[in-house]
Amino acid sequence: MVDVILGLQWGDEGKGKIVDYFAPNYDIIARFQGGPNAGHTLYVNGQKVVLHQIPSGIFHENKINLIGNGVVLDPITLKRECETVSSMGIDYRKNLYISERAHLILPTHRALDKASELAKGNEKIGSTLKGIGPAYMDKTGRNGLRVGDLLDKGFISQYIKIRLKHQRLLDNYHFQEDISSWEDDFFESIELLKGLKIVNGEYFINDKIQQGKRVLAEGAQGSMLDVDFGTFPFVTSSNTISAGVCTGLGIAPQKIKEVYGVSKAYCTRVGSGPFPTELSDETGELIRKIGSEFGATTGRPRRCGWIDLVALQFACMINGVTQIIMTKTDILDSLPELKVCNGYRVNGEEKNYVPFQINRLPIDPVYKSFKGWETDITAIEKYDELPVNMKSYIDYINQFLQVPVKFISNGPGRDQIVLA
Ligand code: GDP
Ligand code: IMO
Ligand code: MG
Repeated sequence: MVDVILGLQWGDEGKGKIVDYFAPNYDIIARFQGGPNAGHTLYVNGQKVVLHQIPSGIFHENKINLIGNGVVLDPITLKRECETVSSMGIDYRKNLYISERAHLILPTHRALDKASELAKGNEKIGSTLKGIGPAYMDKTGRNGLRVGDLLDKGFISQYIKIRLKHQRLLDNYHFQEDISSWEDDFFESIELLKGLKIVNGEYFINDKIQQGKRVLAEGAQGSMLDVDFGTFPFVTSSNTISAGVCTGLGIAPQKIKEVYGVSKAYCTRVGSGPFPTELSDETGELIRKIGSEFGATTGRPRRCGWIDLVALQFACMINGVTQIIMTKTDILDSLPELKVCNGYRVNGEEKNYVPFQINRLPIDPVYKSFKGWETDITAIEKYDELPVNMKSYIDYINQFLQVPVKFISNGPGRDQIVLA
């Protein structure tokens, strides 16, 4: 049996915290897509940790953490992260498994990401510069190197071949930076990776499922950044939606049961691209300040805005979301008025769907206003104790989406979560 936790917006919905909260109910926590572009924040005994490559179940004893075949893996980030969790008393050699089919992010992928973004100028994606796009391009272009290749005697010659190909591309971009120190780090880091449990992920996970073990698939990024369904081309390069669990772990669709969709009580986006409910005023600034909305991976300020139910409904549809987890509700505690977008006005006409031309058409969001709750909710543990105005806000969202909000996160801590 497999349950999924994934983001319904443009990433950073609080997936890391939620996976950490749910992990005790599962035997295996598995990442199925993305790579070090992810930044998942958890608080372990009051200490903040940001995970980029390792699944967010790593701090729970006796849980298997699997990096699936659909992930792109940067050995340098992985090594750094292994050192971090190790310094916190976690024996990653025991609990961390890696699919031999996961593609490697090479130093030249990072260089190509940077070169490509520079070449795009004002039209840049605003990528995390972690080499994600070029690594997935080499996967679908059938050139990439995989974790399992590291164990092969011919690895170095394969590496040299692809490096030469990348160098020609970098020359085309007139990319001059010296990447030899990245390469030194890469070759040092693969030694640690080679010593980890490299497995055939699809047999491994299906055997466990057969034995009755429970799997939690941890999404990275968000549904609106999905390469097929997001705001293309301002997206990431993987399928972030629930379908990605099947291809990213080798799991059949009928094994998936619950799909938990995580959404903030408002909305953020980092990087370029359309964001209909963005607030470029002092309210947006206030949300960014109260919510500490700065990227966990790049430190960039996140763009902030009201919750967008048109986009959320779309995300619920393409993912088959069964329950919604609403995070960062406490960030709205002091606001006297809240808005919820329940339609898009395009060329004067009201639409209730995400249009293909979202990048090109000016979208004027249609809002419904709510009175804020203006109460500190961070210590509340029971649904009944939540302010009435907050319940009205959540009830409306429930009704609109026709998917229940079952969990309400009211602070970054592991235990700050209220069951509806
Ligand atoms: P992820 O990428 O989806 O895991 O999310 P990030 O870790 O990038 O960003 C979410 C941020 O919000 C982190 O700093 C979390 O610690 C924090 N967070 C998560 N849930 C809550 C919540 O309910 N309230 C508050 N105040 N912070 C939260
Ligand atoms: P988590 O898992 C928020 C965004 C980047 C950029 C676009 C493409 O922490 O929610 P990429 O480096 O993937 O080629 O960048 O996607 N992006 C994220 N935004 N959270 C993330 O991950 C993101 N991962 C990528 O900012 O706009
Ligand atoms: Mg994040």
